[in-house]
Amino acid sequence: MDKNKSIELPNTDGRLNSIGIIMDGNGRWAKKRHLPRSAGHVAGAKIIQRVLEDLREMGVHHVTLYAFSTENWRRPADEVEGLMDLIYKYLDEVVIPKIESDKDFSMRFLGDKSALSEKLRSKCIEVENMAKDRAFICNLALNYGGRDEIVTAVNSALAEGKTSITCEDIQRHLYTSASPDPDLIIRTGGEYRLSNFMLWQSAYSELYITDTLWPDFGREDIVKATEAFLSRRRRFGGLNEEDK
Ligand code: FPP
Repeated sequence: MDKNKSIELPNTDGRLNSIGIIMDGNGRWAKKRHLPRSAGHVAGAKIIQRVLEDLREMGVHHVTLYAFSTENWRRPADEVEGLMDLIYKYLDEVVIPKIESDKDFSMRFLGDKSALSEKLRSKCIEVENMAKDRAFICNLALNYGGRDEIVTAVNSALAEGKTSITCEDIQRHLYTSASPDPDLIIRTGGEYRLSNFMLWQSAYSELYITDTLWPDFGREDIVKATEAFLSRRRRFGGLNEEDK
């Protein structure tokens, strides 16, 4: 029996609507097994759909996955090429059939597509055009950087003729304008940082960091992250009734 399926998912009472995930630890997962880093990325890609389905089952409607950052271009060329091929394959073989067969699933891309290969860029556009803003939206952050996103948003607001910028102006021009800010950001691989992920949107996100390496991220980890989230008291800078 699948170990993951035997674990019950918690009832979130609709409190967990939007999640961001920093999928870290693929390289270490591979190293532990004396495998090339690329094998870690392949293993990491394989678990994505299962994680998305579990989150959906708990009532989550928006999941943002950090697939490739604006800084990841600094990795060796063969690793970058391998990641790009893997992302293309995931879109072509997993995401497109999923959108065709599941009327509640859609995907958007966050980041600057202009630096992607023509082949990958057109696959992303094909995926986005297949379905827009269905009940469940997976945002794939690809050539994404939080600082770059904020600068791009400010420039878009200026291009509208604005001479002073409000928070709303920036919000409206972010890559995530179609998704609410994440309630929870999960980082696997044990590092305590955001690494340029959703810098604007994370202002009041709860953070959950686990040592589990991304390819090992199972239902047990989802349950732990969700329970940690449900136990937090969110105040958004104000006070709750019980704090007064
Ligand atoms: C970090 O692992 C992971 C990434 C560079 C991004 C996540 C990529 C995947 C999950 C695989 C492909 C993605 C899709 C959408 C199909 P790392 O190499 O930094 O790990 P390390 O910190 O152990 O070296």
